[in-house]
Amino acid sequence: MRLALLLLPLLSQCGAKSSRRYDPTWESLDRRPLPSWFDQAKFGIFIHWGVFSVPSFGSEWFWWYWQKEKRPKFVDFMNNNYPPGFKYEDFGVLFTAKFFNASQWADILQASGAKYLVLTSKHHEGFTLWGSEYSWNWNAVDEGPKRDIVKELKVAITKNTDLRFGLYYSLFEWFHPLFLEDKLSSFQKRQFPISKMLPELYELVNKYQPDILWTDGDGGAPDRYWNSTGFLAWLYNESPVRNTVVTNDRWGAGSICKHGGYYTCSDRYNPGHLLPHKWENCMTIDQFSWGYRREAVISDYLTIEELVKQLVETVACGGNLLMNIGPTLDGIIPVIFEERLRQMGMWLKVNGEAIYETQPWRSQNDTATPDVWYTYKPEEKIVYAIFLKWPVSRELFLEQPIGSLGETEVALLGEGKPLTWTSLKPNGIIVELPQLTLHQMPCKWGWTLALTNVT
Ligand SMILES: *[C@@H]1O[C@H](CO)[C@@H](O)[C@H](O)[C@H]1NC(C)=O
Ligand SMILES: *[C@@H]1O[C@H](CO)[C@@H](O)[C@H](O)[C@H]1NC(C)=O
Ligand SMILES: *[C@@H]1O[C@H](CO)[C@@H](O)[C@H](O)[C@H]1NC(C)=O
Repeated sequence: MRLALLLLPLLSQCGAKSSRRYDPTWESLDRRPLPSWFDQAKFGIFIHWGVFSVPSFGSEWFWWYWQKEKRPKFVDFMNNNYPPGFKYEDFGVLFTAKFFNASQWADILQASGAKYLVLTSKHHEGFTLWGSEYSWNWNAVDEGPKRDIVKELKVAITKNTDLRFGLYYSLFEWFHPLFLEDKLSSFQKRQFPISKMLPELYELVNKYQPDILWTDGDGGAPDRYWNSTGFLAWLYNESPVRNTVVTNDRWGAGSICKHGGYYTCSDRYNPGHLLPHKWENCMTIDQFSWGYRREAVISDYLTIEELVKQLVETVACGGNLLMNIGPTLDGIIPVIFEERLRQMGMWLKVNGEAIYETQPWRSQNDTATPDVWYTYKPEEKIVYAIFLKWPVSRELFLEQPIGSLGETEVALLGEGKPLTWTSLKPNGIIVELPQLTLHQMPCKWGWTLALTNVT
């Protein structure tokens, strides 16, 4: 029943034209078809960069944990390393971005195989990575780098890569005096959205024309307070990106997993089953922080095996993976992140055919063999079985596909030669994998069988 209800809006989208107009209501906005590039892209890179990258300790929530929650770890860190009276704002000038080279970032991102990028244009600290007219002396052009980071990255990405350019934007700011006043009025007053957040968001979209607007941080305020529906109606009807822009579901208390564009539901969301609405798994390579942490140790970072598993599970279940990295205060992508990105790209070079532009199949994972996930290209009549463990016997049992003699073909991506398989009754096939030495393997960390003409 619930499924049927959820599917209705999806079905009714099929006839919708991009020229239709949207009313500032969720009922209308939620009917907008998601621009198709997003589902086809499958894999994006999230970048958390800001003044929090200066202390680069504990978390990008550093300011909040230190000053609001007064967590001992953060209070001690400040007492031990900075003079008395040092304020969070004083980190601003130290955010130098000295070695930031946008084309270098673009090269690394392109090598990762990702098809889009989402940069924190402003996190909850309020510091904007562009010269916002509404963030006086608390932006990257007036302070710190003295450069328009958003623009430099947008130019390099557009010029040197085939990635789409997306921007993260935090609606609220932890300590903005107007937000705090509004909050005291239980959000009856709306000074902060009217004088800060809304004008800034219009400026951001008009100036940098992002393909994704990844909002976050409702600060406990409802979408009425943010005028999210009014803004989205403008975004979808009039803005320069009205035909291509994709949004998420973080538009005010209660909207997550319910309203907006695609669903993010929670950080690191990975349900393990198919959802009737497009969704995204945003997660970080450093398990404990989105911003760079100097004290991280190697075991804090997900291994490439774990990352490939996240990608495969997510895509098989209809999601996109948004994998996060945190650059340093001087604009370096730490080599551990760079290595993971390049490894992902190596894996996708061989297996990308089973990821990009695929659809979920009737089964998301195999019911008998663990760590086998399926994707599908209906036009080509190919089901992809991605398996994360190479069986010692070299015989891979797949319980879900039904093969037919003389029609079904099986091949290992990156290898090409047709493989021998046998049919089991009433369903399932056993595939004999090729005998390969370590050096002959087309890739590591996970492999793909292309199954042509199975049902
Ligand atoms: C930036 O990086 C590119 C390589 O991607 C390099 O060609 C260029 O010289 C670098 N620019 C600076 C100013 O270092
Ligand atoms: C909300 O935004 C729309 C579109 O910009 C605008 O017309 C409307 O006046 C706004 N409403 C409030 C209450 O701010
Ligand atoms: C397939 O996925 C479901 C849902 O995550 C899980 O319950 C089940 O154990 C998985 N099957 C295998 C064989 O891994």
